[in-house]
Amino acid sequence: MGSPAACLEEAIALCQVTVPDVQLCETIRDVTVRQEKSPFIRACRREAVPYTPVWYMRQAGRSLPEYRKVREGVSMLDSCTRPDLITEITMQPLRRYDVDAAILFSDIVVPLRAVGIDVDIKAGIGPVVATPVQTSADLGRLRALEPDDVPYVTEAVRMLVAELGERPLIGFAGGPFTLASYLVEGGPSKNHDKTKALMYGDPQLWHALLGRLADITISFLQIQVAAGTSAVQLFDSWVGAVGPDDYRHVILPHTSRIFSALASTGVPRIHFGVGTGELLGLMGEAGADVVGVDWRIPLDEAVRRVEPGKALQGNLDPAVLLAPWEVVEDRARDVLRRGRTAEGHVFNLGHGVLPETDPGVLAKLADLVHAESIRPDT
Ligand code: CP3
Repeated sequence: MGSPAACLEEAIALCQVTVPDVQLCETIRDVTVRQEKSPFIRACRREAVPYTPVWYMRQAGRSLPEYRKVREGVSMLDSCTRPDLITEITMQPLRRYDVDAAILFSDIVVPLRAVGIDVDIKAGIGPVVATPVQTSADLGRLRALEPDDVPYVTEAVRMLVAELGERPLIGFAGGPFTLASYLVEGGPSKNHDKTKALMYGDPQLWHALLGRLADITISFLQIQVAAGTSAVQLFDSWVGAVGPDDYRHVILPHTSRIFSALASTGVPRIHFGVGTGELLGLMGEAGADVVGVDWRIPLDEAVRRVEPGKALQGNLDPAVLLAPWEVVEDRARDVLRRGRTAEGHVFNLGHGVLPETDPGVLAKLADLVHAESIRPDT
């Protein structure tokens, strides 16, 4: 990757191609330059930081009473198409926690719905697809995603970037295996049996499906970066269901294509999945700048599993936050200690915030991470 200035030029060039709006590009130039100095972006780039940056996966949402209030009477996916609500919900956790980044309020199935897939998010269940993907004829339903399909994302990101100032906004999308799982199973699944049956049994259809999903994901992420997000995270949450050999041959090529397509934007690319201890090296090889680690593998062990040149993100077990504060403190210090062995460390949970988490604990934890990791000389 080139110098930050060269990357910025490339990012601006890309955004001019995708969204021919000079005003927007000038805004991006300004904001991007300011965000380059943020501890979060610096840690992703493995540069020296004044303290370890922290944010929480699923920091917006059901653990916050103000979230439940604004969502009253609005379905999950409708709330993801209203720029006013996207902006408000994205900002809610930042009013409570001194986190170093915001994450766009959206969902991994938003781009699927935007291209016409009949997906809904059922409360307490998750994404449900009325007509699952079963044959090659179903692929026709997965057309390319255009910026005009998600104008609300562009508008919300622009509003948020203006409001956030120096604090970076993370954009995100679902990874190929996780999206394929919802489409093939028709809803959440414990073992992803139908998905794996397709993966093992019909490689041609599998690759065609993942190719189309990668195209949609690339567009969705490029749209977010063009509008001003300063990092992206690819959530392939359920990819831990696959062994390393299969991962390398049937998933990695698609994930690599997604990360390569974003390389010229210059924004840090984070890659996360649950139960991926055996895949961490490959997830880095796929082209991520930052590898997300769940709580099952200590960060110093994760360091040994990824190639040099990667930062790590993670990895406090979200369930620890339900234990007394002394336990949280102890475990958080341990994560920081092990995180110091990485070339760059972004503190996070090992998966999303659990709905029953006390927001007060998340606030105290962000402060603890900063206080414990302060490096006076940087
Ligand atoms: O992190 C954030 O605060 C940003 C928002 C965000 C949501 N979904 C909002 C949401 C993010 C980053 C996601 C990603 C997402 N969505 C993933 C990957 C991350 C992960 O948890 O592994 C996955 C697998 C999904 C699919 C999905 N959407 C699930 C499994 C669920 C939960 C279903 C349930 O109710 O138990 C959703 C719904 C969802 N997405 C909610 C939120 C706030 C809850 C819906 C509600 O409030 O009614």
